[in-house]
Amino acid sequence: DWTAGNIIDDLVARVRQEVGDENVLLGLSGGVDSSVVAALLHRAIGDQLTCVFVDNGLLRLAEGDEVMQTFARHMGIRVIRVDAEDRFLDALAGEADPEVKRKIIGRTFIEVFDEEAGKLDDIQWLAQGTIYPDVIESAGASTGKAHVIKSHHNVGGLPARMNLKLLEPLRELFKDEVRRIGLELGLPAEMIHRHPFPGPGLGVRILGEIHKAYADCLRQADAIFIEALRESGWYEKTSQAFAVFLPVKSVGVTGDGRRYEWVVALRAVETIDFMTARWAHLPYDFLDHVSRRIINEIEGVSRVVYDISGKPPATIEWE
Ligand code: XMP
Repeated sequence: DWTAGNIIDDLVARVRQEVGDENVLLGLSGGVDSSVVAALLHRAIGDQLTCVFVDNGLLRLAEGDEVMQTFARHMGIRVIRVDAEDRFLDALAGEADPEVKRKIIGRTFIEVFDEEAGKLDDIQWLAQGTIYPDVIESAGASTGKAHVIKSHHNVGGLPARMNLKLLEPLRELFKDEVRRIGLELGLPAEMIHRHPFPGPGLGVRILGEIHKAYADCLRQADAIFIEALRESGWYEKTSQAFAVFLPVKSVGVTGDGRRYEWVVALRAVETIDFMTARWAHLPYDFLDHVSRRIINEIEGVSRVVYDISGKPPATIEWE
């Protein structure tokens, strides 16, 4: 019968059988699936696992530190952290088209990951956090992830070039099963129940051209929003929530006059499948609290708006 413990025992046995004494490389993103793969493989093969975590400069506040804290310090997993912020921002400089930005971010990720992989020798396997819905929805309509995974295979060519075999231990599991084994493996509940975060990260939440100052500003606004959602119990009641940086200047009055500053939009949705979504009816008092905090605490933001658009026709992301 299905218990997380049984499944883990079974997966561990299968991984050991498959991998033997060879070594495995995993791209760790901090998302649920790759996190569970990391914990599972560590249980199965210990030091034969090496993870690469790429900080693309478009992650949430303190995300890189949290990943290192959980996996490297706490669990003792070998994680190579690559600080590639400048490289991503340089590659994105001047680009405003959302789909081109996505391609640049995807391509740069593959370049950076490939370079790191190339520095390691004696690797025979590339592990991925593919889960069953990714396998059946190979078009990737619901999460966009299958698409990302596919491009890792095709564009990167890493498995072929390094002659790597593919290891996908979660490919028969549904998301809720992945979460249950993640908890059983000792991953923090906040990590296991996180809202999805897109591969291009804040890159598609800064509308148009990306600048480091915009990303820093957005990271702060997003952190305030998420913290307030967690404090109020609304995080669990929403499926995805985030802030968006709008590169328009709006007037605000401060003591000594009119100042033209940036606008932040808040988006929170409730959805089962991410194909359709309802905007979350967050309480006015809650929105008031978040808006005040963002405007008071973040320099350069003078206005906060709440997105009340359903999907369809509005997508969940703004780009
Ligand atoms: P939309 O905006 O299409 O989003 O309503 C549906 C879900 O997909 C996520 N999303 C992405 N995920 N790469 C990803 O990995 C992407 O380029 C991407 N675009 C959207 C979005 O966050 C939501 O969960």
